[in-house]
Amino acid sequence: MAVPDRSGRAREEKDVRAISTSTSTVSVGIHDISTATGHYALPLETLAAQHGIDPQKFLVGIGQEAMSLPAEDEDPVTLAASAAAPILARHGAENIRTVLFATETGVDQSTAAGVYVHSLLGLPRTARTVELKQACYSGTAALQFAASLVARDPSQQVLVIASDIARYALDSGGEPTQGAGAVAMLVAADPAVLELDPFSGVYTRDIPDFWRPNYLSTALVDGKLSIRAYIDALTGAWRDYREHGGRAFEDLATICYHQPFTKMAVKAHVALAEVAGQPVEKDVAAAQLADTLHYNRLIGNSYTASMYYGLASLLDHREDLAGQAVGLASYGSGSVSEFFSGTVRDGYRSHGRAAETRAGIEAREVIDYARYRELHEREVPVDGGEHELPRVTRAPFRLAGYSGHRRLYERNA
Ligand code: CAA
Repeated sequence: MAVPDRSGRAREEKDVRAISTSTSTVSVGIHDISTATGHYALPLETLAAQHGIDPQKFLVGIGQEAMSLPAEDEDPVTLAASAAAPILARHGAENIRTVLFATETGVDQSTAAGVYVHSLLGLPRTARTVELKQACYSGTAALQFAASLVARDPSQQVLVIASDIARYALDSGGEPTQGAGAVAMLVAADPAVLELDPFSGVYTRDIPDFWRPNYLSTALVDGKLSIRAYIDALTGAWRDYREHGGRAFEDLATICYHQPFTKMAVKAHVALAEVAGQPVEKDVAAAQLADTLHYNRLIGNSYTASMYYGLASLLDHREDLAGQAVGLASYGSGSVSEFFSGTVRDGYRSHGRAAETRAGIEAREVIDYARYRELHEREVPVDGGEHELPRVTRAPFRLAGYSGHRRLYERNA
């Protein structure tokens, strides 16, 4: 606050300079990153056989092998809590002052899903919790907001969680691009994994490529338009990134893209490389991104979590990234895009969670088409009655049932 005396004006300017100096010297970023996915997996070969489609269309054409599906007693809240629990076990919760929950499959129109996660995890009452929505983009908004909070007060940490269940109608064009997953990140000063650059590029355009009205439990999409909208938004964000001091394309070791399906990342990389004046062929682009695609190829689209699953995949599969800059290309239909970057910290491998992420993916129960269809046709009861859910998930948290229009969560026994 300015001091109203004769030298007030000078004091005020000095204070502002002090703040900007202190924020610019604080390194802020991802201190830990942890994942969770759904209980079931449907191989896309199974879906292709059912629809009489050449499986190569899914395996090669869109670059997907399988998709994760939630158990009857899983939802975006339980996935989120399961992703975040290992972070709290490693770092404790006492410095967490904010929980930012990013999702486009929120469970309530009023209460932030993060409040249920906060409760399940036993986080301190002295924390603020809020939910953010803008299709698959909002995890990035959460991360940037978190970084600003930490820059303002480096003693604070922020828990950012991106969690979603991607659902399209049965037999629709979007059906092979479903999936489920959550990524939790601890944002802190002097981060152990990725230091975020202070500049980024942003882009917003009102475009009807993908949306979900409140009364639908599956998304609506114009597939071809969505691919064009993704590329337009991303190249727009890239140009803005460069105009705001962003790194040159060739200075990025690789780029983690939002991955509704892994082939989309390759398409985007070819387009971005062209705009950046460093054109690459499709197969070269695929090779440059290969380390970012492993997990998404197996779990499918996880909307807000998708790009961060790509980052986890990169960190778990590349050993030579210390000190190198990576790009992050975030897209949410509707549409908003952000391109940003960061530097991988020395010693990042020792903070990784590759074994846990792989175990989560490998532990999934593979189901056949009939079971998948039965699960897909289940709807959340709307009668406000008592509904106990079958005990299926082996994850640390579960949705036990519904009562009086409330969701009842519990720690898994
Ligand atoms: N062998 C190998 N490749 C084959 C093949 C075969 N037998 N048959 C087809 N292919 C290839 C096609 O050539 C095509 O490749 P290119 O795009 O490189 O040309 C690819 O497989 C897909 O084929 P189609 O375009 O014919 O597939 P489709 O009409 O069924 O639609 C889709 C694909 C648009 C992705 C659809 O699944 C969809 O709408 N998905 C949901 C929307 C989506 O994910 N959009 C992405 C951008 S929006 C976003 O990113 C936000 C978000 O998360 C939703």
